[in-house]
Amino acid sequence: MVRSRITAAIALGANVGEPERSFKRALSLLERDGDVQILRRSHWHGTDAVGGPAAQPSYTNGAVLVETTLSPRTLLERLHGIEAHLGRDRANEERRGPRILDLDLLYAMDEDGAPLAEHGDGLHLPHPRMEERPFVLAPLKEVAPDQRLPRSGRSVTEQLDFLEQSGGLARLESPAEARAWCEAARAAGATIGFVPTMGALHEGHLELVRRAAMENDLACVSVFVNPLQFNDPADLEKYPRDLAGDARLLAEVGCAMVFTGSLEGFFPGELVDGELPAAAYIHPGPGAAGLEGEYRPGHLEGVATIVDRLFEVVEPTRAYFGAKDFQQCLVVQHVADRRGGRPEVVRCPTVREHSGIAMSSRNTLLKGAACEEALVISKGLHAAKAAWDAGERDVASLTRQLRDVVSVPGIDVEYAEVRDPGNWTLEAPGGALDRAVGLVAANVGGVRLIDNMEFDEGVR
Ligand code: PAF
Repeated sequence: MVRSRITAAIALGANVGEPERSFKRALSLLERDGDVQILRRSHWHGTDAVGGPAAQPSYTNGAVLVETTLSPRTLLERLHGIEAHLGRDRANEERRGPRILDLDLLYAMDEDGAPLAEHGDGLHLPHPRMEERPFVLAPLKEVAPDQRLPRSGRSVTEQLDFLEQSGGLARLESPAEARAWCEAARAAGATIGFVPTMGALHEGHLELVRRAAMENDLACVSVFVNPLQFNDPADLEKYPRDLAGDARLLAEVGCAMVFTGSLEGFFPGELVDGELPAAAYIHPGPGAAGLEGEYRPGHLEGVATIVDRLFEVVEPTRAYFGAKDFQQCLVVQHVADRRGGRPEVVRCPTVREHSGIAMSSRNTLLKGAACEEALVISKGLHAAKAAWDAGERDVASLTRQLRDVVSVPGIDVEYAEVRDPGNWTLEAPGGALDRAVGLVAANVGGVRLIDNMEFDEGVR
């Protein structure tokens, strides 16, 4: 029987040992049995390591175009066998860590040039991440410059130009475009890590995006100052906005796509006189009882409603939220539970300035003395945590220690309370707790700030 031949592109990468020597040995092993012929080979390119643990040596990358009678799966097994033969231990290596040899199948075509699609059991054809990776595309351009890429529809050359101009970040302006982009990414077998934001990005957001990029094939971000969650129009008006600056930062941390939109774009045909009818709001669940639920009526309903719609648009594998917004995290988990447990909600530690203040887009609004005054919020939480660490378990005493620090001139405290994070209740619990979280909301110089600290965990 004459076996059909396929053409396939293979990416080579290494940053440990002698990459060029490993590549030469790998390619001669690949051709050894006579069933794979190398049609074209790129030069070897040096690139900085992208993602993964800090301070990795830079990479050497290359690409080859081969013709073979092997099936894509057998070809992939051959590549993995060669990696193992040359010293790679896939089972025990760090994710995106240093590599002695990385051989990836990028795409394959049948004899008529039709692309082959396969997803499952470790084989993903076409490769879900190749379109975002200049270090893959640059060598690929040497061996297949005109090859059309499945997701963008651009040729390898065009996609590389696009990445150079945009920093690899696709900027989309409507939920409809974002939906199509995400659908194509999922159809290509990619996992999506999603970070919903209201923009004015700071290091706290960027940490979420880095983690999303690390734990998923693609990271994507929404920037939408959601009017549904602002109970005070003046607060909505003055909320900081800087989309151009946000896009620059996102390109630097490996975000593949950012999208924005309008209320009409998120809820097409659902608005009445420009407003979303009450019946269209999603119930935020038990985590919305008290505190934020009480002081910002409607806020968490607005969060639940937009987050539900964002999840519907993106259908992410995982979604990343900062622990600073404690009740928001409870509400988001409730929204994900309502959606059948998807996406997986990842709650990430609060990122703090050196001064201790929790990072927030609103910090940019603090002026003059307010910058100093705001520090009592985290100091109060630290004081209560110190009491907890010293053995105090009584809610009344912990609350008193928190309030002693935060109740000072210049600070208009809305609430400073201690709750059981595992058993959220409308009213503050009494007596002793096994687990506790301190929560504060206060207006400082006209800026509303919130913060929290879980006492039985490390400082977050
Ligand atoms: O935390 C935020 O920035 C917002 O509440 C969110 C989750 C993006 C919803 O608008």
